[in-house]
Amino acid sequence: MTAGASFPRWLVDRDGAGEIVGGPTRGTFADLPPGELLVEVDLSSLNYKDALAATGSPGVVRHFPHIPGIDAIGRVVESADPRFHAGERVILSGGEFGAGEWGGWTRYARPSAERALPLPHNLAPEEAAALGIAGFTAALSVRKLIAQGLRPDSGEILVTGSTGGVGCIAVALLAKLGYSVVAVTGKRDRTDWLRDLGASRVVDRSELKGLGDAPLLKSKWAGGIDTVGGEPLAVLIRSTKTGGCVTTCGLVAGAGLDLTVHPFILRGVTLCGVDSAWTPGEERAAVWKLLAGEWKPERLDRITRRVPLSALAPEIEAILAGRIAGRVVVEVNR
Ligand SMILES: NC(=O)c1ccc[n+]([C@@H]2O[C@H](COP(=O)([O-])OP(=O)(O)OC[C@H]3O[C@@H](n4cnc5c(N)ncnc54)[C@H](OP(=O)(O)O)[C@@H]3O)[C@@H](O)[C@H]2O)c1
Repeated sequence: MTAGASFPRWLVDRDGAGEIVGGPTRGTFADLPPGELLVEVDLSSLNYKDALAATGSPGVVRHFPHIPGIDAIGRVVESADPRFHAGERVILSGGEFGAGEWGGWTRYARPSAERALPLPHNLAPEEAAALGIAGFTAALSVRKLIAQGLRPDSGEILVTGSTGGVGCIAVALLAKLGYSVVAVTGKRDRTDWLRDLGASRVVDRSELKGLGDAPLLKSKWAGGIDTVGGEPLAVLIRSTKTGGCVTTCGLVAGAGLDLTVHPFILRGVTLCGVDSAWTPGEERAAVWKLLAGEWKPERLDRITRRVPLSALAPEIEAILAGRIAGRVVVEVNR
């Protein structure tokens, strides 16, 4: 590593005409923003939010030029923070990493030490990247259901966007913990894949649409993990049983929520928000410890594809169109 050396990264910027342009390019150490750590990144991943960042979405990117990648796995090269030392493997995520701050689609990153967490000894870098923020968010969601008293014998748990990053790991985690999982998907050809992950039933996405405007629907689900928002989330809440709990983390189907208070005041349903970015440090470490240990999903390779940084463009298009199943791990140095 020499001061003038260049390394691969993905940069999003505005061109002379103000248009958003982005793609693989090379950066230098002098370009990196100030931060307590210098990290050599091995792996990152492609999340829905990264695709928004890569296309310059103003809801995600605050300043140009920008480097997407809301999670990354790498090795500390230099540390000005006593909690980390050179050579230590870390998970980078949280806060504004990859959104308001430069993220992990770069061979070298200089993040704040607050974004780093030591990689648990029982989690391989490939496993940590396969899980990423998606796995972390799925685990946070499962913890919320458990905290609200949902047990495997409470009844069926519905997971929306079930072939997506958060959704497929939620299916695998719930199944591993003994819950009966109903997976909602728009991808019929993924039925066997979802069953293989642990779904006991697979339901077409269309079944959560056009069910009229009654404030309550027939009660069916003990709870749910929603990753899409909009109408499917409203239908899920309206059809959750008395005392049930639903978590919400995403908005790919819409940010609006057309509901009355009836599910909450007549069935005591709880709606729990999930925010991975600002999860306090202790909870963050506890969740990664679970993911590295007793909650680690079996055979993460079944849900993961590895794609080099240089071949991400079609993957970005595909995730924005809802066409990707599972997780895309980004090989930053290839
Ligand atoms: N709050 C947080 O901390 C947090 C953390 C991570 C992610 N998120 C959010 O969670 C959501 C999912 O993230 P992700 O990275 O898992 O995304 P993803 O991999 O793109 O998965 C989203 C899935 O939603 C389904 N879907 C897509 N378009 C849809 C539509 N119009 N109507 C209904 N379902 C649709 C698709 O699954 P099927 O084909 O199987 O239906 C798709 O694969 C995003 O909104 C993301 O920003 C939030």
